[in-house]
Amino acid sequence: MNSLANKYRGHLPIIENPNKDGTLTLFNLQMSQNQNTFAAYSNLFNHLIKNNEKIGRIIEIGTARGGLSILFKLFCIVQKCDFITYDIIHDTIYSDIFKILSIDYRIIDCFNPNSRIEEEIKKEDISIVFCDAGNKNLEVNTFSNDLKSGDIILAHDFIDESREDAYKYWPCKEAYPSAIKLALEKNNIQPFFYEDFYKSATFCGRKI
Ligand SMILES: C[S@@+](CC[C@H](N)C(=O)[O-])C[C@H]1O[C@@H](n2cnc3c(N)ncnc32)[C@H](O)[C@@H]1O
Repeated sequence: MNSLANKYRGHLPIIENPNKDGTLTLFNLQMSQNQNTFAAYSNLFNHLIKNNEKIGRIIEIGTARGGLSILFKLFCIVQKCDFITYDIIHDTIYSDIFKILSIDYRIIDCFNPNSRIEEEIKKEDISIVFCDAGNKNLEVNTFSNDLKSGDIILAHDFIDESREDAYKYWPCKEAYPSAIKLALEKNNIQPFFYEDFYKSATFCGRKI
């Protein structure tokens, strides 16, 4: 990495008025995110890489159209780590690209023990678990029990109604603080890059 490239491995700005329509197209890839998702993940990934922390895998629970999965996979190819994406139905519109990129796309209920999510999380190096399926609170409450120290868990559609800016960044509340509080405490998970991710409608926490 030359010094100029390292200099720009910096913090990307988060915008105050992102799209709130539920769908975003980036490079013509469709996903259910707002524009802050890219800055938030970029800031998280750059932080880990700068600190020489080895990412073992990203696990996306809830693939849907699959645009975000493609971006995660490209990152994982560059970082030489694993990427798995789960959905209960085959809903991607990018099947051909999933094949070209050899995306590990598992069609199974994430709560089915045969999904082997627990085993995947427990493998060595940092697991990044993105809960974005049908019951985000339950996904956090379930999979946070499997995290190792240093692992990261995220939940999309996260809204904290006690904040004045609660619905400023996203219209849809499917995860919220009171529903995941006990699991976070029990598993020693602290907020991580909290503000960046809050503004992308996502909770991000890291197991200490
Ligand atoms: C909000 S979408 C995912 C959005 C995607 N991560 C993105 O950023 O574009 C939720 C997806 O979770 C899937 N889903 C719902 N319940 C599930 C379950 N129990 N296990 C796995 N996937 C599930 C749905 O079929 C749907 O495609």
